[in-house]
Parts: sequence; C-alpha cells; structure tokens
Amino acid sequence: MSESFYVTTPIYYVNDVPHIGHAYTTIAADVLARWHRLHGRDVFFLTGLDEHGQKVQRAAARAGIAPREHCDTLAPKFRALWKQLAIANDGFIRTTDARHHAVVKRLLQTLYDRQLIYRADYTGWYCTFDERFWTEKDVQEGRCPDCGRPVEQLSEHNYFFRMSRFQQQLRDHIAGHPAFIRPESRRNEVMGFLQKPLEDLSISRPKSRVSWGIELPFDHDYVTYVWFDALANYLSGLEYLPARPSVDRFWPAAVHLVGKDILTTHAVYWATILMALELPLPRTIFAHGWWTVNGEKMSKSRGNVIDPSAMVAQFGEDAFRYFLLREVPFGQDGDFSRESFVGRINGDLANGLGNLLSRTVTLIGRCRNGVVPRADSASVTALDTELRDAATSLLHTTMPRHLQTDRIKYHRTLEAIWGLVQLGNQYIDKTAPWVLAKDAANVKRLDTVLFHAAETLRFLCFAVAPFMPNTAPAMARQLGLSLDFSQALLQHPIAWGDGPPAATVAKGDSLFPRINVATRSPHGDSMEPSAASSQPASPAPASSKPGGDASSAPASGGNDRRITIGDFQKVRLKVAKIIAAERIPKSEKLLKLQVDLGDEHRQIVAGIGKQYGPEDVLGKTVVVVANLTPAKLMGVESQGMVLAAGADDVISLVTLSDDAPPGTTVK
Ligand code: MSP
Repeated sequence: MSESFYVTTPIYYVNDVPHIGHAYTTIAADVLARWHRLHGRDVFFLTGLDEHGQKVQRAAARAGIAPREHCDTLAPKFRALWKQLAIANDGFIRTTDARHHAVVKRLLQTLYDRQLIYRADYTGWYCTFDERFWTEKDVQEGRCPDCGRPVEQLSEHNYFFRMSRFQQQLRDHIAGHPAFIRPESRRNEVMGFLQKPLEDLSISRPKSRVSWGIELPFDHDYVTYVWFDALANYLSGLEYLPARPSVDRFWPAAVHLVGKDILTTHAVYWATILMALELPLPRTIFAHGWWTVNGEKMSKSRGNVIDPSAMVAQFGEDAFRYFLLREVPFGQDGDFSRESFVGRINGDLANGLGNLLSRTVTLIGRCRNGVVPRADSASVTALDTELRDAATSLLHTTMPRHLQTDRIKYHRTLEAIWGLVQLGNQYIDKTAPWVLAKDAANVKRLDTVLFHAAETLRFLCFAVAPFMPNTAPAMARQLGLSLDFSQALLQHPIAWGDGPPAATVAKGDSLFPRINVATRSPHGDSMEPSAASSQPASPAPASSKPGGDASSAPASGGNDRRITIGDFQKVRLKVAKIIAAERIPKSEKLLKLQVDLGDEHRQIVAGIGKQYGPEDVLGKTVVVVANLTPAKLMGVESQGMVLAAGADDVISLVTLSDDAPPGTTVK
C-alpha cells in the first residue's frame, strides 16, 4: 500500500472574512498535498473552521445574530475562497459539526477517566480577548502579555489537564526529534519556554461566562476551552469526514502548518494532550511567519487588510499563489506590496515562464508545422545536455529536497524552477532557431533545439503543477500533452525524451497577462492587465530598463505639462512593417530592425530585445517616429523610433492590423 501523507492547516476562527494570513497557510498546505499526490502518496489534506469560543460568540453578538447563524453565514466565504485559490483539500471540518462534538467529548472523557483531568479552584488573571488565564508573574502592569489588553482577576472552579506531568517527556521528545518543531529558531523558542515549570492547563469555561462551546461530558455547567476543542480537529477530522481516512491510516500527521503565534498551543498543549492520550506526536509542526502590508501590521483599523479574493479576481490565483510562496522564505515574516507582486508577475511570470512557452510554441508552429520533433543524437551539443541535466535534477533531486516537511523551502524551490526557466530562455537566445531555420543544412540541429525547448517545458509542467494548478495544464495543452496533474505522474521518475511522440503544439492565450503599471487612475489603483496580454508573449526576462536611447519607449506618467496640437504635429508618426530583425551582438536589449515605410526602407534600432526576440517582431505592423534625427546605438545607425507601451520596461509594442499599409500617417 502506498505511503500516507497527512497535512493540516490551522482551523480558522469564523469571526471575520478570510484574509491573506489564512490564504497563506492553506496555499502552502495545498502545494505539499499536490506534490505528494503527484508522487503517488495517499494524501489527506485537512482544513476547516474553528467556530466556538468567545471570539466567535462576540462577533455574532456584534452582528446581532445567533452564533450558529453567524458561522453558517461565514463558512461559505471560506469555502468559496478555497475554490477560488484552487485549493484541493480532502476534508473540511467545522467544529460545530455534531460528529466533531462526539470526538471531543470522547477525548475529554478518556482523559478524565485516566485522572488526567481534575477539578480545582482557580484564581488568576483572565484575558477575555485571548480567552485564557495568566499567572501573576505573566501579567504586565495589569495587561495581557500577549495582546496588551487589560486583564481581570477571576476566581472560579475549573477543570485542569495535568499538562505539567508531561513536561519532561515533551522536552525529551523535542530533543530527540529535530524535525518535530521547525524551523530551528522556533524549536529553540519552545525549548526555552519549557525551561520554566509547565503549569496545568485549564480546559473548561463556565457556561455562565462562555456558552458557545462543547459541553464537558462530566459537568454540564461547563464548556470545553476553545483550544482543546480546536486542536482535537486533527483527530476528529480523520475519524468522520470522508469514508476513506482513518486514524490508523493517517495518524501521526506528517505536518501541521501553523502561524508562529499559535506554535505554543500546538507544540506544547497539543503535544502533551496527545501524550496523555498515548497517541504518537505529529512528525513536524512547521511555524511560518506573518505578513505585514507595505511595512505595516495588517489590521482592520488600519484598513490595510489584504483580501485574497480581490487579489485573485484582479491577478489570478496562480500568480497569487506563486507570489506568496516565492517572495518570502517560509518561516520568516514578509511584507506584501502590490508593487512587488506586480513586479513578480511581469518579470518572473510574463517575461519568464510565459515567454518561454510562447516563443517555443511559436517556433515549433512556424518551423515544424506544430509537431514537436525528436532530437537528432548526432547534433546534440553541450548546451542541450546542460538543459537536460538541469531539468532532470530540478525535478528529481532539488525539488524533493527543498519540499521535505522538515525543511519546506518553497522560495528556494521556486527559485530553482525559475532558474530552469531562465536557462530555457537563454538556450533559445543562444541557439537562435530562427537563424537555423533559414538554412536547410541545419534541419537536424533545428529539430534537436526545438525538441530540447519543448522537453524543458514538459519538465516545467510537472515542476510548477503543485504551485500553479491552472498553469500546468494550460502549458501542457499548448505543448500538445495530455496530462492530469491530480494523478501520480511522478510516482516513477520521468525521463528526458519519454514524452509522447509527435505531440502537436497548440498556441493559446499568454499564460500571464502583463500588468500595466504605467497609468495611474484617480483612485490610485493603477494596475490593470495590459493590452499586451492577449498578444503572443515575448522572449527573455526583462529586468533592466531599455534606457534613454532613440529606440526606447517614451516615458509616461506624472508629466502634466501641456503641449499644443502644433507641438504634437511636429512628430511624424507612420505605419511601418518590420521586414527583418536581428539582435545586435553583445547587447541584451537592442534589436536591429529593417522597416518598410511604403516609399522607403529604414533601419531602426529598438530597445525591446529583453521583451521581444527577432522572431516575435518579424512581420508586425508597428508605428514609428519617422522624423527623428538619426542616432548611433552601439555603433549601429537608427533612423527612427518604434512606439511601445511601458513607462520603464517595455510592456508591449504598439501594433496595428494589416489593414493599414506601410507609410500611412498616424495622427
Ligand atoms: N483558530 C485558531 C487556530 C486553531 S488551530 C487548531 C486561530 N485562528 S485564526 O483565524 O486567528 O488564525 C489562523 C492562522 O492565521 C494562524 O496560523 C495565524 O498565524 C495566521 N495569521 C493571522 N494573521 C496573519 C498574518 N498577518 N500573516 C500570516 N499569517 C497570519 O488562531
């Protein structure tokens, strides 16, 4: 039977709509689940909602509705977001489910029967917000050490779990299992916490104070502490959700993903509860960092809460998933800004992966009628084997290492995948298939090059599939491959060249619409998918600016100086057709173009080479400034300028349909 893999997210409080923090952990868990499914493991991925306790009770009271109704209103919003983010969870637990209640009660009764829960008087400092007691020494000037809110002294009978009994056992476990708490810094923190004597844990709340919870099976005047209830979801979710999973099959969990703020509840409370139940501990608890927004803590009062749903609606789920996991090492805090998000979309996604696919499919379409050729072994060079080796080790060595649950380095994984994307783009630049295509003597070499480009993309489909569940099938479709990424496609290593013979490519929409950052609306919401989005994408990743040469895009934005119509008429704009194009040696960004202006041919040097290759622009109808004083760029004369959109980096050439013949005036 295949190996099992159980991954969980925290269950989220339903006191408000989901935010970026909730999306983050859920996406992270989804990537692991998809990666392990691809490898043929029996995966159970559980997420859900924490619906009891004072926080939810209060949120419902604010909304003027019963807690149950409040939960029922919010739960679909979480489910809808997971759908929007392409989350493929196997289970979705709500702690108000009757069957979860039954499991919690059973666990409480077991501990009570084993005399690991006892009743006692307790006087302590209570923080209503955090729903927990603090001792005298914890409280700082009458305030909660966790949230800073005032605490009140309460005296009441409560039920306590004998957590203190397990202190040494827990310390030994952590010491003996380096993978148990990750990353290392968090493990040290918990070890530090366990230097102080561990107290028993109050696991009850009198109904007079909190009524919204699961009643203790041995005292009807109390409900259980919301954390006992919530943590139990990791077991109850296995017991009753779909028919398939069971505790025997999936416990212990491979990994609990949690935010850094809830590490103690997992690594100490949950771990000791499991010890008391004589159940094995999860193999890893991985604590990730927190997102700030433009350098500030995210909060409702600041009005800067990032709504994942709006991000997806504007930029697409795969781009959002990519950004969150690429931008920040998992485990560290990170900052969200639209600028860095858009930078990644335009750079890594549109100019990187999107381009590689588009140019490869275009070249195979043009040079081989769309059929992916086989390589000719006699014409394989070191460039080709470099690509093959990089793709193979990415998929079968680097990714498995970075995605091991005791490491979880999403950002490094994506960095490595994009290393291959870059290598692929460089490969096309260096091998220049459009030049090979000019001479029939190169037919075998061209086959080999096109095969290697397509094969790199096939490997990339598998690599990106866990991160970008919609992009991978879209890529596969364009490459003429029929692949279902929910299947165990990587159960056995795939080999270079073992794709289907004679796959036929099918050019599709560009994978990632470039986001236009040039024009600011009065509302400051400046980022719209650019008109270039439906154009075939272009080569090589763009990072530097085209510069102030005669061929660069005109600057725009922020310049309000008015000109007269007379000023504008000084610029002679004409329709031109690009009839030849080549790269200028030793320049990444300059292309030498020959253009047809109707009654004359001109040579224009254009700073678009980072975004467009010669094969992309050949035959395009563009707009040029025809009365510009000639200038020399890298020693090559330029007799005009091609118009392109983009304030800094070129985003898109201004192109026209063939209806406008070369030489036509543009006004
Ligand atoms: N209900 C408890 C968890 C019980 S698990 C048995 C809870 N819920 S929560 O909705 O408040 O938080 C859920 C998760 O969101 C936590 O892991 C928390 O770290 C995470 N985040 C909340 N804000 C966050 C950011 N700003 N950034 C990243 N994650 C953040 O706690």
